[in-house]
Amino acid sequence: MTSPSPGGYDPRHFDKLFELEAQSFWFRGRSDLINWALDKHFPSARSFLELGCGNGYVIDRVRQIHPDWRLVGTELFEEGLAKARIRMPSGVELTQLDATTNPYDAEFDVVGAFDVIEHIEAAPAVLAGMYQAVKPGGGLLVTVPQHKWLWSEADVAAHHVKRYTRRELAGELRDAGFELVRVASFVSLLLPAMMASRLLKKDAGNVEEELDMAAPLNKACYAAMRFEGALVRAGVNFPAGGSLLAVARRPL
Ligand SMILES: C[S@@+](CC[C@H](N)C(=O)[O-])C[C@H]1O[C@@H](n2cnc3c(N)ncnc32)[C@H](O)[C@@H]1O
Repeated sequence: MTSPSPGGYDPRHFDKLFELEAQSFWFRGRSDLINWALDKHFPSARSFLELGCGNGYVIDRVRQIHPDWRLVGTELFEEGLAKARIRMPSGVELTQLDATTNPYDAEFDVVGAFDVIEHIEAAPAVLAGMYQAVKPGGGLLVTVPQHKWLWSEADVAAHHVKRYTRRELAGELRDAGFELVRVASFVSLLLPAMMASRLLKKDAGNVEEELDMAAPLNKACYAAMRFEGALVRAGVNFPAGGSLLAVARRPL
């Protein structure tokens, strides 16, 4: 499939993001948080399914830490899967799949979707599929963009259907049958910079340009993400942030 679906995504983003991901403070900081949550909340996990895995950056970081797990990444667009195969020639099963359909039945310890469900009108169908795919007692990790008031040209360019409130994400997860473990804001310390970039800049629709920053600035942003991550890990709940991380569990 090569054409963007309604909501969906524009597969032309995959090339540029593939160049940026490994260095970008945003991809690294978010992935640090995801891997921490995975190991803290689901320490006995041995299998992991990621929906909408894009270029495979997140699942590759999981693979590096847990090379012996069963790892499956699915993605709507072949362009993303092609990059994921370059990044991970082996060790991860990569499959083309529309996340609104689910072929798995209670076979993963943890399922995840990172910055995916906000692209899909039928997000509740995706969450219902994730509920089916994860084992009873298993875990769910989801990240989404936060705050309606932060909506900008960048969301339009990214093919977002919406940005979430904390209450809305919690409600969709509960409606799908999950028990919430934690919903945490992140990109909180950098929120003022994000607001300036998104709401004040003329060319705010150029998502890649926002991430393609000079190395010293990228390093400083990553330091802020690391400091913030340490606070989140210590239990601090920021009242606001560019994104939300939800941790939930399918009841036994
Ligand atoms: C912002 S990207 C995130 C990619 C990856 N999860 C990451 O965090 O690097 C959104 C991803 O969702 C995928 N996506 C959008 N609609 C989808 C659908 N219906 N089924 C599967 N993937 C979908 C896009 O193709 C894209 O790879």
